Amino acid sequence: MKKRIVLFGANADGRKVLQNLKPLIWMDQVEVIAFLDNDKRLSGGKIENIPILNPQKITELSFEKIIVCIIFGEEACIQLQGLGVNKVKIEFAYEEPLFSKQERVLNGCRVGKYSYFKPSTLLVNTQIGNFCHIADNCQIGLSGHRVDLVSTYPLSYHFENVINDPSEDITANKRRMESQTIIKNDVYIGEGVTIMSGVEIGNGAVIGSKSFVNKDINDYAVVGGVPAREIKLRFSVQEIDRLLSIAWWNWPEDQIKKNTLKINSNVKEFLNEFNEEE
Ligand SMILES: CC(C)(COP(=O)(O)OP(=O)(O)OC[C@H]1O[C@@H](n2cnc3c(N)ncnc32)[C@H](O)[C@@H]1OP(=O)(O)O)[C@@H](O)C(=O)NCCC(=O)NCCS
Repeated sequence: MKKRIVLFGANADGRKVLQNLKPLIWMDQVEVIAFLDNDKRLSGGKIENIPILNPQKITELSFEKIIVCIIFGEEACIQLQGLGVNKVKIEFAYEEPLFSKQERVLNGCRVGKYSYFKPSTLLVNTQIGNFCHIADNCQIGLSGHRVDLVSTYPLSYHFENVINDPSEDITANKRRMESQTIIKNDVYIGEGVTIMSGVEIGNGAVIGSKSFVNKDINDYAVVGGVPAREIKLRFSVQEIDRLLSIAWWNWPEDQIKKNTLKINSNVKEFLNEFNEEE
Protein backbone atom coordinates (compact mmCIF):
# COMPACT_ATOMS: atom_id res chain seq x y z
CA MET A 1 0.00 0.00 0.00
CA LYS A 2 1.17 3.51 -0.83
CA LYS A 3 2.64 5.20 2.28
CA ARG A 4 1.44 8.74 3.00
CA ILE A 5 4.29 10.95 4.10
CA VAL A 6 4.44 14.47 5.52
CA LEU A 7 7.64 16.53 5.26
CA PHE A 8 8.38 18.95 8.11
CA GLY A 9 10.26 21.91 6.58
CA ALA A 10 9.39 23.57 3.28
CA ASN A 11 12.75 25.21 2.71
CA ALA A 12 15.63 23.97 0.52
CA ASP A 13 16.20 20.98 2.82
CA GLY A 14 12.56 19.85 2.55
CA ARG A 15 12.69 20.20 -1.22
CA LYS A 16 15.82 18.07 -1.31
CA VAL A 17 14.15 15.28 0.67
CA LEU A 18 11.22 15.45 -1.77
CA GLN A 19 13.68 14.99 -4.66
CA ASN A 20 15.26 12.00 -2.91
CA LEU A 21 11.82 10.42 -2.51
CA LYS A 22 11.04 10.76 -6.22
CA PRO A 23 11.96 7.15 -7.20
CA LEU A 24 9.59 5.83 -4.51
CA ILE A 25 6.91 8.30 -5.65
CA TRP A 26 7.27 7.16 -9.28
CA MET A 27 7.03 3.53 -8.13
CA ASP A 28 3.75 4.39 -6.37
CA GLN A 29 5.18 3.36 -2.99
CA VAL A 30 5.05 6.79 -1.43
CA GLU A 31 2.87 9.87 -1.61
CA VAL A 32 3.97 13.15 -0.05
CA ILE A 33 0.68 14.63 1.09
CA ALA A 34 1.88 17.87 2.70
CA PHE A 35 4.77 20.01 3.85
CA LEU A 36 4.60 21.54 7.33
CA ASP A 37 6.40 24.76 8.17
CA ASN A 38 6.32 27.17 11.10
CA ASP A 39 7.16 30.08 8.78
CA LYS A 40 3.80 31.87 8.44
CA ARG A 41 4.90 33.37 5.11
CA LEU A 42 4.98 29.90 3.53
CA SER A 43 1.63 28.56 4.75
CA GLY A 44 -0.95 28.37 1.99
CA GLY A 45 1.70 27.94 -0.70
CA LYS A 46 2.57 24.80 -2.63
CA ILE A 47 5.67 22.89 -3.72
CA GLU A 48 5.09 20.78 -6.83
CA ASN A 49 1.37 20.96 -6.07
CA ILE A 50 1.88 19.68 -2.52
CA PRO A 51 0.34 22.06 0.03
CA ILE A 52 2.45 23.82 2.68
CA LEU A 53 0.56 23.87 5.98
CA ASN A 54 1.04 25.23 9.47
CA PRO A 55 2.11 22.32 11.75
CA GLN A 56 -1.16 22.73 13.73
CA LYS A 57 -2.92 21.20 10.70
CA ILE A 58 -1.23 17.85 11.33
CA THR A 59 -4.24 16.86 13.44
CA GLU A 60 -6.37 16.95 10.26
CA LEU A 61 -4.07 14.69 8.23
CA SER A 62 -3.96 10.93 7.87
CA PHE A 63 -0.39 9.71 7.33
CA GLU A 64 2.10 6.93 8.11
CA LYS A 65 5.32 8.94 8.64
CA ILE A 66 6.55 12.50 9.16
CA ILE A 67 10.09 13.18 8.00
CA VAL A 68 11.70 16.11 9.82
CA CYS A 69 13.81 17.91 7.21
CA ILE A 70 14.87 20.89 9.32
CA ILE A 71 18.05 20.93 11.38
CA PHE A 72 16.24 21.76 14.63
CA GLY A 73 14.95 18.18 14.74
CA GLU A 74 14.69 17.95 18.52
CA GLU A 75 12.41 21.03 18.69
CA ALA A 76 10.28 19.78 15.78
CA CYS A 77 9.85 16.43 17.51
CA ILE A 78 8.72 18.13 20.75
CA GLN A 79 6.31 20.34 18.77
CA LEU A 80 4.84 17.37 16.88
CA GLN A 81 4.42 15.30 20.03
CA GLY A 82 2.69 18.31 21.64
CA LEU A 83 0.25 18.17 18.72
CA GLY A 84 -0.48 14.53 19.49
CA VAL A 85 1.81 12.82 16.94
CA ASN A 86 3.11 9.45 18.10
CA LYS A 87 6.93 9.44 18.29
CA VAL A 88 7.13 6.22 16.23
CA LYS A 89 5.75 8.12 13.24
CA ILE A 90 8.57 10.70 13.33
CA GLU A 91 11.76 10.16 11.30
CA PHE A 92 14.72 12.50 10.81
CA ALA A 93 16.27 13.31 7.45
CA TYR A 94 19.67 13.80 9.11
CA GLU A 95 21.26 11.20 11.32
CA GLU A 96 23.93 13.54 12.63
CA PRO A 97 22.83 16.33 14.93
CA LEU A 98 23.53 19.40 12.76
CA PHE A 99 22.04 21.30 15.68
CA SER A 100 22.43 20.22 19.30
CA LYS A 101 22.22 21.85 22.71
CA GLN A 102 25.26 19.78 23.64
CA GLU A 103 28.84 19.88 22.45
CA ARG A 104 29.51 16.96 20.06
CA VAL A 105 32.13 15.59 17.68
CA LEU A 106 31.12 15.27 14.01
CA ASN A 107 33.50 13.82 11.44
CA GLY A 108 36.35 14.48 13.90
CA CYS A 109 35.33 18.14 14.37
CA ARG A 110 34.37 19.38 17.83
CA VAL A 111 31.21 21.47 17.55
CA GLY A 112 30.19 23.55 20.57
CA LYS A 113 26.78 23.68 22.21
CA TYR A 114 23.91 25.24 20.21
CA SER A 115 26.14 25.74 17.17
CA TYR A 116 24.56 24.58 13.95
CA PHE A 117 25.25 24.32 10.26
CA LYS A 118 23.34 23.23 7.18
CA PRO A 119 23.63 19.76 5.58
CA SER A 120 25.25 21.19 2.44
CA THR A 121 28.12 22.59 4.51
CA LEU A 122 31.38 20.64 4.79
CA LEU A 123 33.63 20.74 7.88
CA VAL A 124 37.17 19.35 7.82
CA ASN A 125 39.55 19.31 10.81
CA THR A 126 37.72 22.23 12.40
CA GLN A 127 36.87 23.22 15.94
CA ILE A 128 33.76 25.32 16.48
CA GLY A 129 32.80 27.14 19.69
CA ASN A 130 29.34 27.73 21.15
CA PHE A 131 26.37 29.50 19.52
CA CYS A 132 27.78 29.70 15.99
CA HIS A 133 25.48 29.60 12.99
CA ILE A 134 26.74 28.54 9.62
CA ALA A 135 24.67 28.75 6.45
CA ASP A 136 24.36 26.51 3.38
CA ASN A 137 27.14 25.52 0.98
CA CYS A 138 30.13 26.48 3.12
CA GLN A 139 33.46 24.67 2.81
CA ILE A 140 35.40 24.97 6.05
CA GLY A 141 38.97 23.76 6.62
CA LEU A 142 39.90 23.20 2.99
CA SER A 143 43.44 22.03 2.22
CA GLY A 144 44.02 20.71 -1.34
CA HIS A 145 47.21 20.07 -3.31
CA ARG A 146 50.77 21.43 -3.24
CA VAL A 147 51.59 23.91 -5.96
CA ASP A 148 55.41 23.62 -5.79
CA LEU A 149 55.58 20.27 -7.66
CA VAL A 150 55.71 19.89 -11.45
CA SER A 151 52.06 18.86 -11.40
CA THR A 152 49.39 19.21 -8.72
CA TYR A 153 47.60 16.16 -10.25
CA PRO A 154 47.69 13.00 -8.03
CA LEU A 155 49.40 10.81 -10.68
CA SER A 156 50.37 8.01 -8.26
CA TYR A 157 46.75 6.85 -8.01
CA HIS A 158 46.85 5.81 -11.65
CA PHE A 159 50.52 5.14 -12.48
CA GLU A 160 52.07 3.77 -9.26
CA ASN A 161 49.35 1.39 -8.05
CA VAL A 162 48.95 3.52 -4.94
CA ILE A 163 45.66 2.81 -3.23
CA ASN A 164 43.30 5.74 -3.60
CA ASP A 165 43.90 7.04 -0.08
CA PRO A 166 44.06 10.84 0.01
CA SER A 167 46.20 10.76 3.17
CA GLU A 168 48.94 8.95 1.15
CA ASP A 169 48.85 11.41 -1.73
CA ILE A 170 52.27 13.04 -2.20
CA THR A 171 50.65 16.03 -3.90
CA ALA A 172 48.45 16.72 -0.83
CA ASN A 173 49.19 19.97 0.96
CA LYS A 174 50.18 18.34 4.28
CA ARG A 175 50.90 21.66 6.01
CA ARG A 176 47.35 22.81 5.36
CA MET A 177 45.85 19.34 5.96
CA GLU A 178 47.37 19.19 9.42
CA SER A 179 46.47 22.68 10.58
CA GLN A 180 43.21 22.91 12.42
CA THR A 181 40.69 25.63 11.63
CA ILE A 182 39.30 27.38 14.68
CA ILE A 183 35.96 29.12 14.80
CA LYS A 184 35.42 30.67 18.20
CA ASN A 185 32.01 31.53 19.73
CA ASP A 186 28.94 33.45 18.50
CA VAL A 187 30.24 33.50 14.91
CA TYR A 188 27.85 34.01 11.99
CA ILE A 189 28.96 32.57 8.65
CA GLY A 190 26.89 33.47 5.59
CA GLU A 191 26.00 31.34 2.59
CA GLY A 192 28.66 29.84 0.33
CA VAL A 193 31.69 30.84 2.40
CA THR A 194 35.04 29.07 1.91
CA ILE A 195 37.48 29.02 4.84
CA MET A 196 40.98 27.70 4.27
CA SER A 197 42.49 25.37 6.87
CA GLY A 198 44.48 26.82 9.74
CA VAL A 199 42.50 30.05 9.89
CA GLU A 200 41.19 31.34 13.23
CA ILE A 201 37.89 33.21 13.30
CA GLY A 202 37.43 35.43 16.36
CA ASN A 203 34.49 35.55 18.75
CA GLY A 204 31.42 37.39 17.45
CA ALA A 205 32.81 37.64 13.91
CA VAL A 206 30.53 37.80 10.87
CA ILE A 207 31.57 36.44 7.48
CA GLY A 208 29.57 37.78 4.53
CA SER A 209 28.10 35.41 1.97
CA LYS A 210 30.42 34.00 -0.73
CA SER A 211 33.58 35.17 1.05
CA PHE A 212 36.89 33.39 0.68
CA VAL A 213 38.68 33.50 4.03
CA ASN A 214 42.41 32.75 4.05
CA LYS A 215 43.54 34.87 7.01
CA ASP A 216 42.62 35.09 10.68
CA ILE A 217 39.63 37.28 11.51
CA ASN A 218 39.47 39.58 14.52
CA ASP A 219 36.89 39.31 17.27
CA TYR A 220 33.63 41.05 16.30
CA ALA A 221 34.86 41.91 12.80
CA VAL A 222 32.49 41.83 9.81
CA VAL A 223 34.39 40.59 6.77
CA GLY A 224 33.46 40.01 3.14
CA GLY A 225 34.84 39.45 -0.31
CA VAL A 226 37.32 37.29 -2.20
CA PRO A 227 39.70 37.29 -0.41
CA ALA A 228 37.78 38.43 2.67
CA ARG A 229 38.64 41.88 3.99
CA GLU A 230 37.47 43.56 7.18
CA ILE A 231 34.44 45.73 6.39
CA LYS A 232 33.95 47.04 9.91
CA LEU A 233 34.06 46.14 13.58
CA ARG A 234 30.63 45.51 14.98
CA PHE A 235 31.29 47.55 18.13
CA SER A 236 33.90 49.92 19.59
CA VAL A 237 37.16 48.44 20.82
CA GLN A 238 36.14 49.12 24.44
CA GLU A 239 32.78 47.44 23.93
CA ILE A 240 34.46 44.44 22.31
CA ASP A 241 36.83 44.08 25.27
CA ARG A 242 33.86 44.11 27.65
CA LEU A 243 31.95 41.58 25.57
CA LEU A 244 34.95 39.26 25.48
CA SER A 245 35.37 39.39 29.23
CA ILE A 246 31.63 38.81 29.78
CA ALA A 247 31.71 35.87 27.28
CA TRP A 248 27.95 35.26 27.54
CA TRP A 249 28.35 32.09 25.41
CA ASN A 250 29.99 30.36 28.39
CA TRP A 251 27.24 31.30 30.85
CA PRO A 252 25.20 28.50 32.40
CA GLU A 253 22.05 27.60 30.52
CA ASP A 254 19.65 29.22 33.03
CA GLN A 255 21.57 32.52 32.96
CA ILE A 256 21.30 32.64 29.15
CA LYS A 257 17.60 31.77 29.37
CA LYS A 258 17.04 34.60 31.86
CA ASN A 259 18.88 37.10 29.62
CA THR A 260 17.91 35.93 26.12
CA LEU A 261 16.29 39.22 25.06
CA LYS A 262 19.18 41.23 26.51
CA ILE A 263 21.75 39.22 24.56
CA ASN A 264 19.69 39.85 21.40
CA SER A 265 19.43 43.58 22.16
CA ASN A 266 21.50 46.75 21.79
CA VAL A 267 25.13 46.44 22.92
CA LYS A 268 25.02 49.61 25.06
CA GLU A 269 21.99 48.43 27.03
CA PHE A 270 23.57 45.00 27.43
CA LEU A 271 26.87 46.40 28.69
CA ASN A 272 25.14 48.89 31.02
CA GLU A 273 23.25 46.05 32.60
CA PHE A 274 26.26 43.79 33.04
CA ASN A 275 28.70 46.54 34.03
CA GLU A 276 26.26 47.45 36.81
CA GLU A 277 26.21 43.88 38.06
CA GLU A 278 29.96 43.92 38.72
C1 LIG B 1 28.18 40.64 5.79
C2 LIG B 1 26.76 41.10 6.11
C3 LIG B 1 26.28 40.45 7.41
C4 LIG B 1 26.83 42.60 6.28
O1 LIG B 1 25.58 43.11 6.58
P1 LIG B 1 25.40 44.70 6.94
O2 LIG B 1 26.10 45.03 8.20
O3 LIG B 1 23.94 44.99 6.89
O4 LIG B 1 26.25 45.38 5.79
P2 LIG B 1 25.85 46.38 4.62
O5 LIG B 1 24.84 45.79 3.71
O6 LIG B 1 25.58 47.71 5.24
O7 LIG B 1 27.23 46.44 3.84
C5 LIG B 1 28.38 47.06 4.36
C6 LIG B 1 29.48 46.98 3.31
O8 LIG B 1 29.89 45.61 3.19
C7 LIG B 1 29.78 45.15 1.85
N1 LIG B 1 29.34 43.75 1.89
C8 LIG B 1 28.22 43.27 2.44
N2 LIG B 1 28.16 41.94 2.30
C9 LIG B 1 29.27 41.58 1.64
C10 LIG B 1 29.76 40.33 1.21
N3 LIG B 1 29.09 39.20 1.42
N4 LIG B 1 30.93 40.32 0.55
C11 LIG B 1 31.62 41.47 0.32
N5 LIG B 1 31.21 42.67 0.74
C12 LIG B 1 30.04 42.72 1.37
C13 LIG B 1 28.72 46.08 1.24
O9 LIG B 1 28.86 46.14 -0.16
C14 LIG B 1 29.03 47.40 1.91
O10 LIG B 1 30.13 47.98 1.30
P3 LIG B 1 30.22 49.60 1.12
O11 LIG B 1 30.24 50.15 2.52
O12 LIG B 1 31.50 49.79 0.37
O13 LIG B 1 29.00 49.99 0.37
C15 LIG B 1 25.75 40.70 5.00
O14 LIG B 1 25.97 41.48 3.83
C16 LIG B 1 25.83 39.23 4.62
O15 LIG B 1 26.60 38.78 3.76
N6 LIG B 1 24.96 38.42 5.31
C17 LIG B 1 24.86 37.00 5.09
C18 LIG B 1 23.67 36.70 4.17
C19 LIG B 1 23.45 35.21 4.06
O16 LIG B 1 24.36 34.46 3.73
N7 LIG B 1 22.22 34.76 4.36
C20 LIG B 1 21.89 33.34 4.40
C21 LIG B 1 22.14 32.72 5.72
S1 LIG B 1 21.34 33.48 7.09
